[in-house]
This record gives sequence, C-alpha cells and structure tokens, in this order.
Amino acid sequence: MPVKSYGLLHGKRGVIFGAMVESSIAWSIAEAVHREGGLMVLSNAPVTQRFGKLDELSKIVGDAPVIYADATSQEDLDGLFAETTEHFGGPIDFIVHSIGMGLNVRKDKEYTELNYDWYHKTLDISAISLHRVVTSALESNSLADGASIVTITYIGAQRIFSKYSEMGDAKALLESIVRSYGYRLGGLGVRINAVSQSPTRTTAGQGIAGFDAMFDFAEKMSPLGNADAESCADYTVTLLSDLTRSVTMQTLYNDGGFSGMGMSDSTIELITQAVGKTEK
Ligand code: NAI
Repeated sequence: MPVKSYGLLHGKRGVIFGAMVESSIAWSIAEAVHREGGLMVLSNAPVTQRFGKLDELSKIVGDAPVIYADATSQEDLDGLFAETTEHFGGPIDFIVHSIGMGLNVRKDKEYTELNYDWYHKTLDISAISLHRVVTSALESNSLADGASIVTITYIGAQRIFSKYSEMGDAKALLESIVRSYGYRLGGLGVRINAVSQSPTRTTAGQGIAGFDAMFDFAEKMSPLGNADAESCADYTVTLLSDLTRSVTMQTLYNDGGFSGMGMSDSTIELITQAVGKTEK
C-alpha cells in the first residue's frame, strides 16, 4: 500500500544498519526514512560488498553514503561514527539496528547440540552489536539531544518457537540491552526501543528451519495477518520521529495482533482437519 509522506523526519540525520537486498527489513526502513525527509548513512558488514545491493539502495534514497562496518568490531564502528558525524557536520538524530544472524540455526544445529563458538558469534552479531553501536555512538558524542534508536526483534525472545532455538536467546538479550541502555540514555534525552516484527520473508528469516510453518501459523493467528517489511518501516519511522519522544525501553509489536492471541478460528479449523475429527 503506497503511503504518502508526512514529513516526519524532515531535518533528521542518522545511520541505518542491515540493508542488504530488497527483501531486507532495513531496505524498507531506508525507503521510508527517505520518504519522510530524513537523511542517512547506510552500513552493513564488509563481506556484503560482494553480494549486497547497498549502492543501488543508496541511489534510491538520495545518494546516501555507504560505510561498511562489521557490527562486532568496535574499531569499525568507531570509524563509522567518526565518518558519519564528519559527513553530516554534527551529531545524528537516529540509529536503526536491523542486524541478525543465527549460525547454529542456519546449520540446523539443535538447541541441545549447539556449537558454542557459533553460539557466541550469534549473540555477538545479533545482540551485543547493539550494545557496541550505542557505546561507540556515545563515546564519539555522535548522538544529538532527542535522538532515537530502534532495533528489530522477534516474539521468540519471550516465548518458545521450537525452531528459533539460539536466536530466542539472542533476541532476549537484545531486548534486555534495550532496557538496560534505555535507562542510561534517558538522562541524555536519547531513547531506544525494539520493534517486534512478524515472520517476514527475508534472507535472515528464511534461514530458519520451519520458517514457512512459522509464517503460515502467524498469518492464521493474527487478526490483521502478518505485518510486512513496509509496515515495519512505517512503524519504525514514527519511533524515529518527535511524535514518540516519551517512548523508551519498550518492545513494541508490529505483528498484526499475533502477540495478543491464544487461538483463532482458522487455527482450530487447521488442527481439526489435521487430526481428522469433526468440531461441533
Ligand atoms: P536480512 O538478512 O536482510 O538482514 C540481516 C542483516 O544483518 C544483513 O544485512 C546482514 O548483512 C547483517 N549482518 C549480519 N552480520 C553482520 C555484522 N557482523 N555486521 C553488520 N551487519 C551484519 O534479514 P532481516 O529479516 O531483514 O533481518 C533484520 C532484523 O530483523 C534482524 O535482527 C532479524 O532477526 C529481525 N527480524 C526478522 C524477522 C523475519 O522474519 N525476517 C522477524 C523478526 C525480526
């Protein structure tokens, strides 16, 4: 659904981490930020220079500079914030952290058989990177008064989705960092929130075994159906705008109502058919 510009981010400048290809949630966020009048630097892991399409996205969103940085490297992040504030000639108003990868999940390693080196890497990339990003931004005085930080999470942080495995732990840590840093950023007039998104067909999403079943189940359970990447982007721009200036430390659901549900008629029908019984 095409959305008109409300000019919500007019005059705002920031960094968006995690756009790789068109399906990336951060790709939609970059387009929505551009539509709302915001300026941005785009960043992703150096390895994505080989297969990502950041240069293409840069052109779509007004020739935004592309600065590659590994979000698990403090040195890379420090360099990124130095370059970003130099580019904008001052501190920034927003950061979008849309980064995640589950190494054991990708390689179908069961939760009881995790490779611990990969588990560490999963937590480092998918959660601790948010801590690093915020710390680097603070230490370089890169955040303007009133700045807003948003990360993207999944309800698997709070409830068990069997195949989500180690990523549930990573998202639980991510949401905890949002609260822990949120408390400390408040005194600086900076806020931080997590958007908990429906299953979405992206590279990271489809790397999870059982993704199609998770997607279909959520679709049947959610009164509004699954939220797509574009709606996640629209919600995110409201959180980057001044309209939400008193909202911080929250996990906010962009999930079509899934998190409020227990059972829906369409899942009852599905299970009834599957077990071959007739409902009264
Ligand atoms: P995606 O695969 O397009 O995006 C993940 C991004 O993380 C990629 O751009 C990747 O290059 C980046 N990344 C990985 N390692 C990195 C590193 N060391 N340094 C910097 N960047 C790195 O997939 P998607 O779905 O757009 O993921 C974005 C966020 O949304 C992730 O946090 C994901 O867990 C979350 N999310 C995704 C859902 C889905 O069903 N797709 C549902 C709920 C949350």
